[in-house]
Amino acid sequence: MRDFSEPPIYDDLIETDRVHRTLYTDEAIFREEMNRIYGGTWTYLAHESELPKANDFVRRTLGLRPIIVSRDRDGKVHGLLNRCPHRGATVCRDDAGSTRRFTCPYHNWSFTNSGDLVGVPIEEGYGPNFDKSRLGLGKIRVEVYRGFIFGTLNHELPDLETHLGTAARRLDEWMDRWPGGKISVRNGQHRLMCNGNWKLVSDNSHDGYHPGYSHASLLRMRKDRYGGGVDMQWVLGNVDDGLQRLYDLGNGNTFLDQRPEIERYWYQSAPMPGEDSYAATLRERLGERAEPALDVVMGSGMNLNIFPNLLIIGNQLQVIQPRTVDSTDLIWYSTSIEADDLPPEVNALRMRLQEDFPSFGEPDDLANFEECQAGLSIPEMEWVVTSRHMDTGTEYVDGNGDLAGLPTDELGIRAFWKEWLIRMNATTKLEAK
Ligand code: FES
Ligand SMILES: [Fe+2]
Repeated sequence: MRDFSEPPIYDDLIETDRVHRTLYTDEAIFREEMNRIYGGTWTYLAHESELPKANDFVRRTLGLRPIIVSRDRDGKVHGLLNRCPHRGATVCRDDAGSTRRFTCPYHNWSFTNSGDLVGVPIEEGYGPNFDKSRLGLGKIRVEVYRGFIFGTLNHELPDLETHLGTAARRLDEWMDRWPGGKISVRNGQHRLMCNGNWKLVSDNSHDGYHPGYSHASLLRMRKDRYGGGVDMQWVLGNVDDGLQRLYDLGNGNTFLDQRPEIERYWYQSAPMPGEDSYAATLRERLGERAEPALDVVMGSGMNLNIFPNLLIIGNQLQVIQPRTVDSTDLIWYSTSIEADDLPPEVNALRMRLQEDFPSFGEPDDLANFEECQAGLSIPEMEWVVTSRHMDTGTEYVDGNGDLAGLPTDELGIRAFWKEWLIRMNATTKLEAK
């Protein structure tokens, strides 16, 4: 029996075919994760469409660190620690806006939107050697991949696109469904709160095993009303006999591909209010181009997990925002496509469809997260199974060099823990500079 009252040796908690329950319940591990995982690797911060103009900003977190993602007057994106160098107060207290200066409300020290300290009231009180250039806001290393803004405090990581590897190619596939279209996430947020550890959420997003059981009521209702071909019916029965595949994209990123099950996107999408009149309008206006335009209404058929906190599910982004060891915010962002040759009706329909799963499917998942957290609190049962399809001979390496397997394979969960362990054991110094 291990003595878990000692500081954890993470390697002891992760075995090839199982992980220890304390990874989901231990407060000390959670606090370390918030520093070492979030900020120790490229972590999703925001989407460029949320700060479209010079001087725009949004307030976010990097783990539990309050941060600001801003554009300077030239439009360059910055990640700043939202922490006044004076007495430690948060400097920015608005969720979003536009400003050239952040002024700390406590004693009114003020900073440019790239983080430099430029104003200190009654400055002479600090004496002649006071050096404002050393007292800016902490700066996060930031890079953008096709609108997705990531940040890290790890200055040894390779550049973002290299780090994403084949996950960047999968993001390309997700973004290029309408050639030339730009993804926008400016439709507001759908914030769900759950009393569960943040990792229960990412476990679930690459879990092709659960949908036929967890979402049975939703699927049955759709089938009864709309027939067998409609969205997600392929998750019923033995899905390992079907066409979905799961991939380990490296660095903790994973991909559950449902697209091989979809023959005609528009015709398989779940029905939505007013769709017939929208479709008629589009067919009249676009002629032959109406069919591909209608196809981008339906979810992408992709579940792309970017370690540690960005999940791309269907047409939506879901951002995992941990709060405590046993509570997490899940923030869903619907997306629209901005393109001159795509009429607004397409985005109206996309919006209707994106209200569907978070309302009717996600509650099933949230209930499971909360019940997992309750079960994992039991000390006498220590381990969680992660071995599915590890030794059934069904895994293979795909043409991109990625490990691939059947949809119920737990290879995504194993890939997550492999990266988790690397980050938690890393000796790299994390710095804001
Ligand atoms: S704490 Fe910010 S100005 Fe004093
Ligand atoms: Fe689910």
